[in-house]
Amino acid sequence: MANPNAQAKSTGSTESSPKITPKIDTELATYRSQYPILAETTYMNSNSMGAMPARAREAIGSYFDRWQHEGVEAWGPWQSFINETADTVARLLGGLPGHTTLNQNVAFFQAQVASALDLSGPKNKVVSEALMFPNVLYVWDGFCRQAGGELHLVPSDDGINVPTERILAAIDERTALVTVSHAIYVSGALLDIHAICKRAHEVGALVMVDVYQTLGTVPIDVQSWDADIVVGGSHKWLCGGPGTCFMYVRPDIAPQLSPAITGWMAHADPFAFAPAPIELSDGPWRFMGGTPSVPAYYVAREAYRNLDEITIPRIRAHNLALSQTVIARADEAGLTVHSPRSDDARAGFVAIEFPGSEAASKTLIAEHYKHDWRPACGVRVGPHFYSTEAEVHRFMDRVVQLAKRE
Ligand SMILES: Cc1ncc(COP(=O)(O)O)c(C=O)c1O
Repeated sequence: MANPNAQAKSTGSTESSPKITPKIDTELATYRSQYPILAETTYMNSNSMGAMPARAREAIGSYFDRWQHEGVEAWGPWQSFINETADTVARLLGGLPGHTTLNQNVAFFQAQVASALDLSGPKNKVVSEALMFPNVLYVWDGFCRQAGGELHLVPSDDGINVPTERILAAIDERTALVTVSHAIYVSGALLDIHAICKRAHEVGALVMVDVYQTLGTVPIDVQSWDADIVVGGSHKWLCGGPGTCFMYVRPDIAPQLSPAITGWMAHADPFAFAPAPIELSDGPWRFMGGTPSVPAYYVAREAYRNLDEITIPRIRAHNLALSQTVIARADEAGLTVHSPRSDDARAGFVAIEFPGSEAASKTLIAEHYKHDWRPACGVRVGPHFYSTEAEVHRFMDRVVQLAKRE
């Protein structure tokens, strides 16, 4: 059966893909009552911390029920639960079932992949870009220093975008791995991941894509990308709270990766407690570490339910229409739009900059206009499926007043 989440292919600035027509979807407002914070605030922060679904409380209650009544026997059902949760993420990614692993954060997965690479030979270059989320670069910088590799950071001219062509030009025969974000976190500018994978594979390099900024609002199809490794997490557009990150590894690539950063849950038979060296699992648990943070997964699994039901292309159409409203209001008021204007080149949020934006952001937060602010980027406005047009206007009215100091 076709995967509805992947049916409209993910976009990049140059990748040709079926267009999604921006459309305000008023029926999505029926979901609002499931997210209590929407009644208390003007919520435009889904690019940073998606709204908590009320049912997350019940979900975590069922974790406690299982633990209370089954004790250590809960490990069996918990293992199945983790696999089913990972496969729900795989569906949202357009990936195959049985190839996604969960862990606590993306930094772990980045370090784990680094620990599976051999950079001691001539193929010792890791390509990334200067606007990558710093967390990821901390890991790769440290690893390359230790392992004798070279971290090549493709520069940005404007602090908004790193042209895909420039990344393609940096990939050469010496490249072992390319690690990039689907969207640049300061501006939401999308990279053409399909083109990056194609170029990397020509020189025998792997591509690791971070979709934290896009999964849940931009349709993604990891199979048509031909990406090797895809990582991301749940507390932004997936509304799943902190503590549940995921890594999808292409089935033919997984057996080639034997990470040194590992744990007992990655063993082919964890409950055999066999001595080292580890015999890594052939399944997705190959990329597990130690004991998993099960309660966080109960929350995330509940949160994925609505996204899976609505489908990502429908969310994207609504988000594009609301983002266009944000851009139009910023233009009207003479504020600087720090995100790409083309729908095809932009992820789910719009960054707006103006003199005094940091102070304005603090006032907005104090008044319960939820959003975030980043240096060199300004106020990030991230409407989601549960956001309404009226809410966007209310938010932008206040931004414009503060920008003009009315
Ligand atoms: C692109 C990107 N990657 C990763 C992260 C988070 O990484 P970690 O899960 O290691 O905290 C973020 C932000 O929270 C991000 O924007």
